[in-house]
Amino acid sequence: MTNTLKILGISGSLRQDSYNTATLRAARDNAPSDIRIEFADLAKIPLYDQDHRDENVPAAVTKLTEQIREADALLFATPEYNYSMSGVLKNAIDWVSREQPQPFAGKPAAIMSVSMSLLGGVRAQYDLRRAMVFLDMHCLNKPEVMIASAHERFDAEGRLTDETTREFIAQLVMALGAWTRQLQAGEKR
Ligand SMILES: Cc1cc2nc3c(=O)[nH]c(=O)nc-3n(C[C@H](O)[C@H](O)[C@H](O)COP(=O)(O)O)c2cc1C
Repeated sequence: MTNTLKILGISGSLRQDSYNTATLRAARDNAPSDIRIEFADLAKIPLYDQDHRDENVPAAVTKLTEQIREADALLFATPEYNYSMSGVLKNAIDWVSREQPQPFAGKPAAIMSVSMSLLGGVRAQYDLRRAMVFLDMHCLNKPEVMIASAHERFDAEGRLTDETTREFIAQLVMALGAWTRQLQAGEKR
């Protein structure tokens, strides 16, 4: 019997009706039984300030850091803001990256990007991927999930209605699970 993998879903949008958060929910709901997806909450993370950090690391940052350490893998969903990842996501990454030992290092991870535009947030996705290189995460290369025209693929309650998108998301979760198990097996050798 295989052990259950714990994946931490991190959405780069704080919006109640966020398509990125809705996409993470779809990933959770379409994950196989040996993968459990939980969610990070970036809403209470203040803007990064080195002086603030030297005094006291905020509780929301400590919590996120612990969740990342405990997770077998990370699944990001980021909107594209001005051709980049959202400030909310970058700010959270900046905070956690200053913790020691650096919590992202060696962590398997995958990215989804979701946008109402026709390009599906592709530029944000590559922006995040670049930061992941520096942070030494093991980023899954494929499948690439870039969800374009998001407003046409979800209903008013944020439920995914597009079957093709559901299949892409499920494939990504499966691939991230396999990638994580492969890396974990390599570590044990
Ligand atoms: C400040 C800002 C900048 C944006 N810039 C882009 C952009 O560069 N490219 C794009 O495709 N969409 C852009 N958008 C649209 C967002 O990608 C879109 O609103 C998306 O649905 C946000 O994700 P969410 O639904 O998870 O909140 C921008 C939105 C905001 C608020």
